[in-house]
Amino acid sequence: RILIGGEIRDKGFDSIPVFSTCHRESGEVQLGTTPHVSVEVIKEAVDAASKAWARGLGEWPSARMEDRIQGVIKFRNGMLEERELICRLLMWEIGKTWADAQGEFDRTIQYIDDTVNEVKNLDRESSGFKFSGGVMAQIRRAPLGVTLCMGPFNYPLNETFTTLIPALIMGNTVVVKLARYGQLLWEPLLKVFKDSFPAGVVNVINGQGRDIVGPAVQTGKIDVLAFIGSSKVANQIKVAHPRPSSFRSILSLEAKNPAIIMEEANIDLAVAECVRGSLSFNGQRCTALKMIFVHKKIAKEFTEKFVQKVNGLVAGLPWEPGVSITPLPDVNKAAYLTGLIEDAVSKGAVLCNPERGGKVVGQLFFPAVLANVSLDSRVAHEEQFGPVVPIREFEDMQEVEEYIINSPYGNQASLFGEDPEKMGEMIDHLSNQVCRININSQCQRGPDVYPFTGRKNSAEGTLSVFDALRAFSIRCMVAAKQDANGKQ
Ligand code: G3H
Repeated sequence: RILIGGEIRDKGFDSIPVFSTCHRESGEVQLGTTPHVSVEVIKEAVDAASKAWARGLGEWPSARMEDRIQGVIKFRNGMLEERELICRLLMWEIGKTWADAQGEFDRTIQYIDDTVNEVKNLDRESSGFKFSGGVMAQIRRAPLGVTLCMGPFNYPLNETFTTLIPALIMGNTVVVKLARYGQLLWEPLLKVFKDSFPAGVVNVINGQGRDIVGPAVQTGKIDVLAFIGSSKVANQIKVAHPRPSSFRSILSLEAKNPAIIMEEANIDLAVAECVRGSLSFNGQRCTALKMIFVHKKIAKEFTEKFVQKVNGLVAGLPWEPGVSITPLPDVNKAAYLTGLIEDAVSKGAVLCNPERGGKVVGQLFFPAVLANVSLDSRVAHEEQFGPVVPIREFEDMQEVEEYIINSPYGNQASLFGEDPEKMGEMIDHLSNQVCRININSQCQRGPDVYPFTGRKNSAEGTLSVFDALRAFSIRCMVAAKQDANGKQ
C-alpha cells in the first residue's frame, strides 16, 4: 500500500509481485506485492507534502521542536513493536542474515535515539543571544521544505532513516520513494507514520524510479533531494529540477574504497579485516573494501591466507547457522560480476579460488578472489558492489597514491601497518583524498554519530547524527541593532 496525505491507499496503482531472493533456486516464493504508482500519483504525494509544508506555515514546520520530537518518539515506539516482522522481511526479501537484519533494525532505533539527543546540542548551539559589532542576534535553525527521500536496497531501512529522521525533526515534510528491493518492510510502518505525524508530513510511495521521479522533480515543488545510490541517477534527478540552484542535494553515492597493506602489517589481522570488509553482506555496502593493494614482500602470504578464509565462508540461506554468503537480491548481478571476472582474467589476473569463486547457484554467488589485477581491468575501477575481490601487489607506494588520486571516488580507505612514521605520512596523504581512514581495520560507516561523507563522486553534504540535523536545516537569525548605550 501507499501513504499519501494521511490516507493509506490500497488501490489506484499497479501492484507487482515481490519474490523472496532466498527461494529463487527452489522455485519462486512470493512474499507480497509492491505498488507501482503512476506519475499522477507521485505528483499527488508531492502535493500532499507541499500542502503540509504550506510554504513554511504548516502545522509541522511551525511546531515547537519538543512537539516534533514527541512525534518522532511516538513513531520510534510504534516501529519497535514491528521489529520481528520488519527483520524477517529484510531477511527474506534482500537476503540479510538474521543477525544482520536485526543489526540493521536496532541500529536504526539507536540512530533515532541519538538524533533526538543531539537536538539538545543543536538547541544549545542556537539558543541564547549573541552580541557582535553592535548587533544582537538570536540564531535559529529552520527547515528547508519538501524533501524527497530515496534510500538504497542494501540498507533499505537504516540508510533511508539517516535522512528521513533528521529531515522530519528539523520540520521538513517528506515523500519517501522506496528502494529497488527491501520494500515490503515499509508496509507495517505505514500505519505507524499515519498515527505519529500530521497528514502529509510523511508520504510513502513506490514505483519505477526512472519513470516517475523526474516528473515529480519537474513540478519544482521539491526543495531537497536526499538520495543514497548512484551518482548517475543523482545527476539525472538533479537536472530535472526547474530551478537547480534552489534545490539542495544531500547525497551518499558510489565508492571504491581501497585497502593498503604495508610490508610491516600484521598479516592475520589484515586478512581478517579485509575478508569482513570486502564480503560482509556479500560486498553490497558502499563502505565495502573494493580494491586491495598489498606490498610485494607479503603479497603471497596475505593472498594465500585471504583465499583460505574466503573458501571457508559458508554460503546458504540467511537463517541457517554460520552462513555469511547469502543470495543476492538483484537478478542481473551474477552476469555482471562474471563479466568483471572474465575481463580481469583476460588482462592477466588470476582467479585464486577457481573451484568455488564465481560459481552461481540460484541467487548465490560464491566470492571470487582475483590476484595480479591489472589497473586496466574494469574491476579495478568499477564499483562491483558484490562478492568479487581484486588484489594487486605494489612495491612503490606512489602507484597506490596515484590510483587513489585519480579515482573518481573519495569515500574511505583502510591502512594496515605498524610503522608509525610511514603510517603517519600515508595518513596525511590520504586525508586529502578520502573522508575516513581506518587504521588496521576495515572501512565502515558506524558508529553513526561520526560524520559520513565523501569527496568527488562519492557524496554531497555530510550525514551522521550531528551533521544531518544541520544538513536538513538552514541557519537563520533574528538581529537587532544596539545603540552606544546597549539599547535596541
Ligand atoms: O552502504 C553503505 C552503508 O552506509 C555502509 O554502512 O559500513 O555500516 O555497513 P556500514
